[in-house]
Amino acid sequence: MSNLIDGRLIAQQIHTETAQRVTALKARGVTPGLVFIRVGEDPASQVYVGMKEKKSAELGIRSITQVLPVSTTQAELLALVDRLNADLQWHGILIQAPLPKHMDQATVYARVAPGKDVDGFHPLNVGKLMLGDTDGFVPCTPGGVHELLIRSGVKLDGAEVVVLGRGNIVGKPMASILMQKGRHANCTVTVVHSGTRDIATHCRRADILVAAMGVPEFLKADMVKPGAVVIDVGVNRIKDATSKTGTRLVGDVAFAEVQPIAGLITPNPGGVGPMTIAMLLANTARAAEQSLNG
Ligand code: GUN
Repeated sequence: MSNLIDGRLIAQQIHTETAQRVTALKARGVTPGLVFIRVGEDPASQVYVGMKEKKSAELGIRSITQVLPVSTTQAELLALVDRLNADLQWHGILIQAPLPKHMDQATVYARVAPGKDVDGFHPLNVGKLMLGDTDGFVPCTPGGVHELLIRSGVKLDGAEVVVLGRGNIVGKPMASILMQKGRHANCTVTVVHSGTRDIATHCRRADILVAAMGVPEFLKADMVKPGAVVIDVGVNRIKDATSKTGTRLVGDVAFAEVQPIAGLITPNPGGVGPMTIAMLLANTARAAEQSLNG
């Protein structure tokens, strides 16, 4: 039997649920609205935002993309965010990272109204996640990993988890989600990073490994306990002379050697990636639902 976790299939299940919520919202006179802001012409961001827009339309979510030139000042971007915060037709605002170097990402993300922060990057939502307050928005990628684990029937209560990477978008929120007291969590979480003395020893203890440090094929077979669940969040472009483009994408897991010993493993692509969009659109439906209650 395959030990692959089919992220596309699970994302589709979530999309179906979101589409039903969108239909229910429309019956109450609310069309969920999502604004994407893209600053500059980063090719990867163009592709990602394009995919998110397309899926929004499929689910009945209204979306627009505001494209700003790379020369936009931070003050101009903040003024746009202020206008969108005040505009009731938009329930979610997503500012695609990376931002140009002259902008301070933390300042920009902190300007988005917490109730429209479908990325879960605002300090209030970060704090709510840490406090175990389920009112807030959870960042889409770790939220998606959590759903993958739950919907694949992985036992979380009491599990030893090692998260590789301590970034604000994945590693830190991932650890926070899994360490909470309660159902579908209650894990013992270790976060390893570039300052960790012996990463492999920590990893070999883990029942669940979440690789999110952005190092191509870092997690090797000899770092994985047989039967462990392995989740690959990495998206790394590496040189490959045999490819038409001269590059190819690989994850943070050395998939070919890890798959035979893993209990379950995400393919890459087709694992975590589709879940990120699914969680974004589920968060958008929730933002719209909360606008009715608020
Ligand atoms: N760039 C890469 N991942 C993300 C994400 O989850 N949200 C936003 N806004 N930008 C990103």
